[in-house]
Amino acid sequence: MKIKLASFLFVGILYSSISLLIAQEVNYEFPKNHSEQNISPYHDKDLLPASFFSNNRKKLRKLMPDNSVAILFSSAVKNRSNDVDYYFHQSPNFYYLTGLREPDAVVLIFKELQEFSNGISTDELLFLQPSGQPDEVWSGKRLGIDGAINYLGVNKAMSVADFLSFNFEFESFDNVFVGKIPKDAIDIDSKIDLFDLIKSVDDKFSRLDKKIDLTTLEGNFLPKLRQIKEKEELSLLSKAIEITCEAQIELMKSLTPMFTEYQTQAIVEFMFKNSGAEHPGFPSIMGSGENTCVLHYTSNRKPLDKNDLLISDIGAEYHGYTADVTRTLPANGKFSNEQKIIYNIVLEAQQAGIEKCVEGNKFWAPHDAATAVITSGLMKLGIIKKREEVTKYFMHGSSHYLGLDVHDAGLFGFLEKGNVLTVEPGIYIPEGSDCDPKWWNIGVRIEDDILITEKTPINLSEKAPRKIEDIENLMQQEGIFKKP
Ligand code: GLY
Ligand code: MN
Ligand code: MN
Repeated sequence: MKIKLASFLFVGILYSSISLLIAQEVNYEFPKNHSEQNISPYHDKDLLPASFFSNNRKKLRKLMPDNSVAILFSSAVKNRSNDVDYYFHQSPNFYYLTGLREPDAVVLIFKELQEFSNGISTDELLFLQPSGQPDEVWSGKRLGIDGAINYLGVNKAMSVADFLSFNFEFESFDNVFVGKIPKDAIDIDSKIDLFDLIKSVDDKFSRLDKKIDLTTLEGNFLPKLRQIKEKEELSLLSKAIEITCEAQIELMKSLTPMFTEYQTQAIVEFMFKNSGAEHPGFPSIMGSGENTCVLHYTSNRKPLDKNDLLISDIGAEYHGYTADVTRTLPANGKFSNEQKIIYNIVLEAQQAGIEKCVEGNKFWAPHDAATAVITSGLMKLGIIKKREEVTKYFMHGSSHYLGLDVHDAGLFGFLEKGNVLTVEPGIYIPEGSDCDPKWWNIGVRIEDDILITEKTPINLSEKAPRKIEDIENLMQQEGIFKKP
């Protein structure tokens, strides 16, 4: 009894210190007056503050050499068909530097203060769509020029029409850094859109003698900055991860083999929306049976079978930040012996990977550690005969950065405090594989989101159970969507 009590206390203390650690690392108190900074139609009180975006521009300026300018375009609106567009998704780099969530805009960030011939003096210029236009009746109010200055904190904002006539004298800069030029901008006759902005930049550059730099901004400066998450970002990312874990937990409690894959998707995506997440950050992967072996499976149409595993690889997007958490579940609530064996190799591999999530390690150290465990496990089972055959059954990297993109920007060098990355090893044995058929159609992936700190790694998605026993226990409970 004493031992039990002691270990109970020990686990309790450990758990509270982990929670405390997470709270210290990721809790950001949004400014008290922050709601005033929000734009009324947006309603949310925990949007990133203007200071976050202006600090990002300052950080970029520090990386830029003297006498240089950086130019970035917003995303294009993508047409789905006829009058219907896809949901607009802002370019994460553009968002990171401006906070603007509207299309058809361009931003210029100068290393030094510029005195333009038209009397404007500034080190940054955002050109965006003006507000108060008749077309707002279709798509809602825009932020406009004053809104951009008041809510996003840019020093100077102007209408896109002014961009076309503005004389930038790019010739006088030693370096002109340009972000990715969107290839999908469509020319809409009735307004000055992204197509016109790009065309105008092209015209201005065609008169330049010097080469413009199309790689450094998005290939180096921005990944270098974005791979380190600030407290405000960690707060939103943690919220996205928390919502995603709750969705995985509800799925575990509700799952029965009577569902189809799309019904399991409906459960998790209901949980996302119901908790305030705007979207899934990527198409939900709900693959059962043979579909567990399709890495980015998204059709999600198959009915579950009672002997199936289900891979649920999902991520809520909350105010732009995306979680990415995978759990593999037995449709009937109990793993078979073969499923258990494969599952536990992946779990051990993941744990080995997480332990390598330490400041100063190479980015790929977690992958190498996970691969070593999977290789030995598959060799022991006779599923592979030579170590190099491991890639037949584990054919992807086990980590990527996480943030504004699910596969977020970063330099993939050494791990640093403030990085958030996934650790997601897997084993996939499709039907017809060169091994005992008892292993066929077993696909297992386990994915968690790990924050690098000065001390031990913090598993931000710890809340969603991973151990077989914990999953099976949770699956005994009654979920809100349980079918009879
Ligand atoms: N959800 C896609 C991935 O895990 O990378
Ligand atoms: Mn992932
Ligand atoms: Mn994933």
